[in-house]
Amino acid sequence: MKNIVILISGRGSNMQAIVKACQQEQWPARIAAVISNKADAAGLAFAEQHQIPAIVVPSKGAASREAYDAELQRQIDAFSPDLVVLAGFMRILTPAFTAHYENRMLNIHPSLLPSFVGLHTHQQALEAGVKVHGATVHFVTAELDHGPIVAQAVVPVLDGDDEDMLAQRVLVQEHLIYPRSVRQFIEGRMTVEGNCVRIAAEDA
Ligand code: GAR
Repeated sequence: MKNIVILISGRGSNMQAIVKACQQEQWPARIAAVISNKADAAGLAFAEQHQIPAIVVPSKGAASREAYDAELQRQIDAFSPDLVVLAGFMRILTPAFTAHYENRMLNIHPSLLPSFVGLHTHQQALEAGVKVHGATVHFVTAELDHGPIVAQAVVPVLDGDDEDMLAQRVLVQEHLIYPRSVRQFIEGRMTVEGNCVRIAAEDA
């Protein structure tokens, strides 16, 4: 059994999609903990309902970014994670933290990276006038919203779209590609070669 620790900051819909896929598809893994930097993250209740330890490591009032990440790392490592999954965890991470979880920490970002890093990605896409938009699963490195790309999903940008409509269309795809990517990692089918991620075919 492999251990997955999921970090959230809010709603946690991607976390929920991963928890459900893990149960329904009987992955050789358990969601060992869900950790939030915000006490009012809605996703914590879902974790509790599913008997998953739901932990708050509050970022508000932390002495420094380094001190916070060190404490977060201590709490994560108490669950001996094979994989750390960032699912709407809205924090910039220190290089020491990203190095500690090198090649074993995934993130989902709501754009087709390397386009539209940072916040308000759907607004950025609308303002850029792109015709397609989407989401990216990637390994986390020290550089924000960079790192080897695992999976991408593409959606059309339609006439009349606003930020919310586009976000909703992308989110549907996030809930497909993120659980699939986590499963591929857990099954040991993912290798990172420089910037490229190779995914071995499923056993027959
Ligand atoms: C998702 O759209 C995710 O891609 C995004 O936050 C949302 C979280 O929703 N993440 C980022 O913007 C990270 N830079 P969720 O809490 O319902 O999964």
